[in-house]
Amino acid sequence: MAYYIWIFLNALLVISTFIYIWIFRTHDSHIVTLGQGFAQVAIILFIINVNMYFIFLVIRRTKVRKLKITLARLSRLMMKSHIKLAIVGTILIVFHGGIMFFKIGGVIGYGHPKIISGIVAILFLKVTLLAGYLRHKKSSGRRRKFHYTTAFLFTLMFLVHIFLPI
Ligand code: HEM
Ligand code: HEM
Repeated sequence: MAYYIWIFLNALLVISTFIYIWIFRTHDSHIVTLGQGFAQVAIILFIINVNMYFIFLVIRRTKVRKLKITLARLSRLMMKSHIKLAIVGTILIVFHGGIMFFKIGGVIGYGHPKIISGIVAILFLKVTLLAGYLRHKKSSGRRRKFHYTTAFLFTLMFLVHIFLPI
């Protein structure tokens, strides 16, 4: 049952951002559209990374041996790209932020909630990367908690940012 909710939430996130960006927020400017494309790809990469939490959670909790083994395999596979996804996503988002800051910020004002929330989201991303790096270097209970807490705060912040109207 929880499995269906998990798949549903992932699909909902990807589909709703897709519809919102490409149907409700279209622009004539090619560069702004490119900036939106960068962000669309980046958030999908970030969502894949955030899913690690739920995979590890089920691995720890489940009593079904077969599921434990399948998810352990899946997690090993996904962790192979975890850092790469984070780095590619970050590069895309930096370009997104740069484009939007200069192209849209000049029009709506640099103090607009859409701009401020984007900047705050990037700051949370920075802390998440740092926490991930620390956990990668040496794992401990505290470092684990630090990484997933920052990852969740970052996700919350970028969701607020995405769906804020201009
Ligand atoms: C310096 C940081 C950032 C700035 C200045 C910024 C600015 C903006 C602006 C002005 C828009 C509206 C574009 C439009 O009119 O359609 C936008 C949209 C978007 N942003 Fe950001 N952003 C930043 C960081 C981020 C981050 C960290 C993420 C996600 C991880 C993100 C994801 C998105 C997405 C998916 C959209 C599309 C939704 C929409 O068009 O309204 N942005 N951003
Ligand atoms: C967008 C950035 C990132 C997000 C959203 C993210 C998210 C996550 C989440 C949710 C987990 C599962 C936490 C748990 O249940 O214990 C995790 C695990 C992990 N992350 Fe990240 N992460 C990001 C970037 C990074 C980076 C840059 C590194 C390393 C340089 C990293 C290293 C790790 C490691 C080592 C684990 C633990 C894997 C294991 O226990 O086998 N992460 N990450």
